[in-house]
Amino acid sequence: MTTDQATQTLNPRVAEVFSDMLEAVATVIQKRSVTYEEYREVGGFLEEVAKQGELPLLMDVFLGVVVDDANYTANGGTESNVEGPFYIPDAPILQPPYALPRRGNEPGEPLVMSGTVRGLDGKPLTGAMLDMWQANGAGEYSHFHPGVPEFNMRGRFTTDSEGRFEVRTVVPAAYEIPKQGPTGRLLNALGRQFFRPAHLHVKLSHPSYQSLTTQIYFEGDAYLHSDVAGAVKDELVVALQKDDARSNGEQQALDSPSYTCSCSFVLQPQA
Ligand code: BEZ
Ligand code: FE
Repeated sequence: MTTDQATQTLNPRVAEVFSDMLEAVATVIQKRSVTYEEYREVGGFLEEVAKQGELPLLMDVFLGVVVDDANYTANGGTESNVEGPFYIPDAPILQPPYALPRRGNEPGEPLVMSGTVRGLDGKPLTGAMLDMWQANGAGEYSHFHPGVPEFNMRGRFTTDSEGRFEVRTVVPAAYEIPKQGPTGRLLNALGRQFFRPAHLHVKLSHPSYQSLTTQIYFEGDAYLHSDVAGAVKDELVVALQKDDARSNGEQQALDSPSYTCSCSFVLQPQA
């Protein structure tokens, strides 16, 4: 490929954004009188971030929330939230009764998440798709943590004729940014804590409505107000109910839920 061809393949918007980013970096270099040594050290740091595969993580810890904010307009629908670096497309399409794929000994308490998907006018949406992914009860994401099977805790399912859904999963743990890598070293140097509160990710789609990428958090989580990614929005925090009837009674079958949470999503019509 010639240089000319290579230039042509770059999305022009991305080229413009990059040009603005370079201008912003140039301002910082001037403001801080950055030396050659420091300039090379920043380059070496970024090289290590890329070598360790942490570029999406680094960007999402520090900038994901800015991208979400820049694209969000309040208009009555459920609030969007950061996608994060752990989304994998084409998760398995689940068959009812829905349960995210998981191992028999999956870390985490059983959880049943249920709710509705509606349009802005309150109309229940039949056949809305929820593409859901999450960490397990040990804070591990499949495809990113060694030893976790492909598409573990990831799946797609749809709402019924009344816009309702119910899916079995496990309560996720708070997610800790890896401490050993360059992103962790930077957080340490900046005096920041390493955790995101426990959360569920979901992308919602329906042919007649705008797609929505968001997250669900749980009341009482220790990291709601100190999220390392700064992404928590009050509207997205729900109660995690302990289901005592099932968790301490004789109904304690292996797969019976011990927690429930309820989430209602509202989608905006296509523009
Ligand atoms: C997450 O949602 O899992 C996430 C978001 C930003 C940075 C790291 C993780
Ligand atoms: Fe996440």
